[in-house]
Amino acid sequence: MAVTHNRRSFLKASTIAGAAITLPALSYSRVYGANSRLGIASIGTGGKGWSDLNGVAASPHVQVVALCDIDSSEKHLGQAAQKYQEARQYDDWRKLLDKSKEIEGVLVSTPDFMHAPIALPAMQLGKHVFCQKPLTHSVHEARQMTLAARKFNVVTQMCNQIQSHSAYRTAVHMVHTEMIGKVKEVHSWQSGKPSWPRHLNRPSGNDPVPQSVRWDLWQGVAEDRPYKIGMYHPFNWRGWQAYGTGQLGDFGCHILDPVFKSLKLGSPTNLTAEAPKLFPESWTDQATVRYEFPGTEYTAGSTLKVTWYDGVGTRPPREKLGDVPADYALPAAGSVLVGEKGSLVIPHVAMPKLFPEDKFPADKSPVIEGVDHYTQWADACRGAAETTSHFDYAGPLTETVLLGTIGIRFPGQELKWDAKSLAITNNATAQTYITKPYRKGWEPAWV
Ligand SMILES: NC(=O)c1ccc[n+]([C@@H]2O[C@H](COP(=O)([O-])OP(=O)(O)OC[C@H]3O[C@@H](n4cnc5c(N)ncnc54)[C@H](O)[C@@H]3O)[C@@H](O)[C@H]2O)c1
Repeated sequence: MAVTHNRRSFLKASTIAGAAITLPALSYSRVYGANSRLGIASIGTGGKGWSDLNGVAASPHVQVVALCDIDSSEKHLGQAAQKYQEARQYDDWRKLLDKSKEIEGVLVSTPDFMHAPIALPAMQLGKHVFCQKPLTHSVHEARQMTLAARKFNVVTQMCNQIQSHSAYRTAVHMVHTEMIGKVKEVHSWQSGKPSWPRHLNRPSGNDPVPQSVRWDLWQGVAEDRPYKIGMYHPFNWRGWQAYGTGQLGDFGCHILDPVFKSLKLGSPTNLTAEAPKLFPESWTDQATVRYEFPGTEYTAGSTLKVTWYDGVGTRPPREKLGDVPADYALPAAGSVLVGEKGSLVIPHVAMPKLFPEDKFPADKSPVIEGVDHYTQWADACRGAAETTSHFDYAGPLTETVLLGTIGIRFPGQELKWDAKSLAITNNATAQTYITKPYRKGWEPAWV
């Protein structure tokens, strides 16, 4: 496979994950007749993948043609194979892509570290992609996903599905109609208690790999390590730096989404985090990240401060929340946009609330209808809609979220960010986290 290198030398490009695949002509499109259906493949059919698959397959214009999961048990491949009996079954996504002629769109619902390695070659094959959040595991991968979607002209959607709910759409509308005036600052938080392992060293020893699990395929681009029950697959991979992105990575693409969407934010110019010292291989559940962005048409100043807080029971300081009354019970997760004419609380996931209350009577609040995030993508693949979390939007959002996870590694140190050159310009060690090493033989198919 011919791969062009357009990044710096430290972002060593390779072709192996793509090399298993024989690339036919790139992006193609077809005209859909009344009875023709979009052929889709689902990679990662358990966990969130199960609802992604059913969400997209709810469209009458979709046909599920292939399923792939490294775990053949009931909760993973089993239930999907039972429901979509005509679909071919795989345990290795490389084989699925190799036999992909009738596949037009691919759902990528694997753990975070395998999103880009699967989605990049899929896009290079001209497949439309619906990918879970965060879009990727590294900032460099996020940039690559944005570039690939553009270059191969495919329809994309990241699954921060709350973006399409009435709640977040209404919040965006309230900002765009300047109900609270121009926005002066933003506070976003997640106070929930993660159920995944954190503040841990890697467990010693190994457990027998269940018969249903292809552990080597699960590890994919990551370095080989022994299987341990309950530590990684399923779900608990989130707590490990090699596979997941911690609490900010898990929730940032949801909770910061209406902030980005409404204020039309681009890339931050700098950020500073506060966090306890990280264990070498696991994430923390307690961090504050202070970002600064260039101002936009919806901000009061030429710059905007956005602060992210996570930690069990945490909330932003009340005195910073403008018109939000001190006795108002803030939601467990969400954002407050402090404007020149009022404050907007955007709970994660519930209808937004404007303050002061006497200025914004609840019965006069606008309500914007929700849309279906899943079938919107399927419709867009058929040329009948447009996606709103396409990679031109989701890529930069994910870059920002993942920059925060780099900041957490360097508490108290300001990191200056030059988005154009993908560079942390004042900290060479932090810059090394923009990308990461890949297991030999599994290097992604860079654009
Ligand atoms: N949008 C949301 O609200 C939301 C909610 C939960 C999870 N997620 C995201 O969905 C993704 C999956 O999370 P999860 O909680 O479902 O994880 P999980 O580990 O519970 O499930 C992942 C599924 O993918 C399969 N899988 C793993 N590696 C694979 C590979 N290389 N090829 C094929 N199949 C593979 C697993 O066997 C499992 O069935 C993550 O990126 C997560 O951040 C999003």
